[in-house]
Formats: sequence, structure tokens, C-alpha cells
Amino acid sequence: MANLPSGNRDSFGSKFGVIAAAAGSAVGLGNIWRFPLVTAQNGGGAFLLLYIGFIVGIGIPVMLSEFTIGRRAQLNAMGSFKKLAPKTPWFLVGSLGIVTAFAILAFYSTVAGWTIEYLIEALSGKLIHIEDTSQNFAEFSTDPVRPVIWQLLIMFVTGGVVYAGIQKGIEKFTKILMPVLVVLIGLVVVRAVSLPGAGEGVKYLFFPDWSAVNFKTVLMALGQAAFSLSIGMGTLITYGSYIQKDNHLLSTASTVALADTFIAIMSSLMVIPAIFAFTTGGIDNMSPGPGLVFEVLPNVFKAMPGGVIFAAVFFFLLTVAALTSTISVLEVVVAYLKEEMNMTRAKATVIASVSITVLGILATLSFGVLGDVQLFGKTIFGILDYASANVMLTFGALFIVLFVGWKLGKSSFLDEISNEGTIKSGLFKVVFFIIRYIAPVAIGIIAIAAFFIKGIT
Ligand code: PHE
Repeated sequence: MANLPSGNRDSFGSKFGVIAAAAGSAVGLGNIWRFPLVTAQNGGGAFLLLYIGFIVGIGIPVMLSEFTIGRRAQLNAMGSFKKLAPKTPWFLVGSLGIVTAFAILAFYSTVAGWTIEYLIEALSGKLIHIEDTSQNFAEFSTDPVRPVIWQLLIMFVTGGVVYAGIQKGIEKFTKILMPVLVVLIGLVVVRAVSLPGAGEGVKYLFFPDWSAVNFKTVLMALGQAAFSLSIGMGTLITYGSYIQKDNHLLSTASTVALADTFIAIMSSLMVIPAIFAFTTGGIDNMSPGPGLVFEVLPNVFKAMPGGVIFAAVFFFLLTVAALTSTISVLEVVVAYLKEEMNMTRAKATVIASVSITVLGILATLSFGVLGDVQLFGKTIFGILDYASANVMLTFGALFIVLFVGWKLGKSSFLDEISNEGTIKSGLFKVVFFIIRYIAPVAIGIIAIAAFFIKGIT
């Protein structure tokens, strides 16, 4: 039987361990590579405000819903729905999560692999001698071999940490690396905002231009908020199942959301002002694509004193941020295979890593040899990115709040987040109201409207 007694279950060893692991999942390429990209493409400050609104109004309630489901059921993303709502189709929300994990890790490991190439180019001194950084990125990303090797390395390390288990692998890894990450980001931000000309970028980032906002912007902001918080696919259901019973879930969720948003803003302060400082005409004159960070920032490092060191630090922190997230996505699939298919952790890790890597290689090659394989004008990488981050996570989040608000119900929810009545807070009922009424209506309207808006892609 798949349902293990909770006593035998792995768990995080400390409160800081829970925060390090969950914030490790949240803080990743989504903050440093994707956030500045979508912010730049969707109206700067206005996007930022919408984004923060979604983090507080929808992100935290969804995160709390996931923690609640996981901790209550003590099972993986699919098993949790089966246990809490037996003989109903709700387990399909878990299946959607498993599929989304595949899609995300496939394209995510491509970009994570790029960070290793750039780390090595920075350390070897090659990066700051490159004349044309866009051409360098184009040559590297279309190469049929090098990006694949780095992707394999990322998946290998990810698999290694997940194989080592919850406390000895995921918790240990994130507890050491998350503080390092925060310090390094702080260092690079100080350097970036003190560049001459950076002020324009800071202005662009914080000045809200509401004329840039349309339904697509709203969908992108919601999608980015979900992607960045790692909600909507069961990562936090899975991690929630390893959280001990005396943990204050609302305070954990709020801390993680705050840390993630702080790092997203810090990351934009690393990237956007630097772009303004070194490109005439700023963002509007460049075509932001997946390579934005990899094409523009090397120019910045080239021009600044001590650029070699900052380049190495930046790409190192990008790799670290990526790895603390990839492990959380892989764990979704591994926990599922382990508990629902009765596999050992070792076997589940190998099967999950290898099958995701196969899809991931296709995503990587879609920048080069598989570039012509397209659907709706998007490459394999583009489809995986758009479909998972904007569509699947949005629907995942919708079903998760509907589940907690309408199926699990108020008394079970309150029971779980108050640790069976031991903590009291007036906020609990407010959050439940949001989960039951406000979040589903808001997410539902955005998700459905997105389908009817022309030119959404
Ligand atoms: N939140 C991660 C990031 O911002 C990505 C991620 C998404 C991780 C979904 C897990 C689940 O990079």
C-alpha cells in the first residue's frame, strides 16, 4: 500500500532547514534570469507592482494551501490528493503537477547548464575578452554538444542531492548554500547600482508605466509569481509533507515569499541598471530573449573594474540558485515514484532524472539543430517554458485553492495551520476566505481570459 505511516516518513530536521529548502526552491533562475526578462518585456515598474500584489494576495495563500495538503497527508503530490479525497478525480491535480515538473525541469536544466559554461568562461578569463557577446551566446547555445554536457552535469548533481535524501541531501545542501547566495547577491547589487548611468535603470524598474499593462501583462505577472514561488505543481506539497507538525506554516510561507520577492527585486537591481548603464537606448532598443542575461551582462563585466571577479561570482550564484531549485522539482517526481510505484529512492531518482534529461536535451537542442521543430511559432524550449510557467502552473494553483477551499474545507484547514489549535491567529480565517473565494475567482478570470486574448503568445 502506498500510504506509509507518518512515523516512518522523512522530515526536515529544523525550522531553518524548512525555510532554506523552500526558499531554495523558490529562489532560482526564476528570480535572476526570468524575472528581469519578463519585467523588461512587460512594462517595468507597473509589472513589478502587479507582481507584488499577486505574491501577497495569491502566492502566499496558495503556498499555504500546498503546505497544508502535504503536511496533512504526509505523502507525495499525487498521493496526497488520493488520501485526502479518496475515490475522486482530485488526484488528477497531482498528475498535472508531475507533468509540470517534467516540463519545468526540462527547460530549466538547459538554462542551468548555460550558467556553468559562463562560470567556466568567467573563471578562465575568456568572458572578458569576448568582442561580441551576442555572437558568443549564439555560437554556444546553438552548439550541439557543449550545452548538453553542462545540462547532464546539472542533472547529475541534482540527482545526487535528491538521492542523498531529505535531511542529508536537500536540507544540508540548501542550509549551506542559501546564506552564501544572499551574501553574493548583495555584493553584486552594490556594484551594479553604483555603475555610472545605472540610475536610469533603477527608475525604469520602479516607475510604473500603466500604459504597458494589458491582459497579457497580468497573466505574465501571475505566471511569474507562481513560477518564482514554486507553487502550482506540488513542489510545496511534497516539501510540506516533510515539515514537522509543530511548524508554524503561515509564518514559514510568509518568510519564504518575502525572501523570494526580496531576491527578485535584488536580482533586477543586478541586471536592469547594468543594462541601462551599458546599452544606449536601454531596454526598448534591445530584443530581450532567453539570452538577455548571458548577452548583456558579460559586456557589463568587461567594462567594470574587477569585472572578472564579479562575472565569476555572478555566474556561480546563478548556478547555485538553479541547483537549489532543480532538486525541489526532481523531488516531486522522485517522491511520487517512490510512494505510488513502490520504488526505492535510488531507483526513483535514476528513472526520474534520466527521463527528464531526455526531454531536457530536446529543449537544449531546440536552440540549434532542432530549431525548426516549432509549434505556434515556438521552439521546444519556448513551448515548455510558456506552457508550464504560464498555463500549467496557473491552472495548478487554481485547482489547489479550489481543493483546499471547497473539498478539504475550513475545519481541516484551520486545524492544520493552527497545529490542532495550539496557535491562534485572526489571520487564519482571513487567509481561508481568500483561498475559498478571492484566489479562485482572480486566478480563474486571468487563466480563462488569457485563452481569449488574441496575440497572447
Ligand atoms: N521557483 C523556481 C525559480 O524561481 C523555479 C521552480 C518552479 C522551482 C516550480 C520549483 C517549482 O527559479
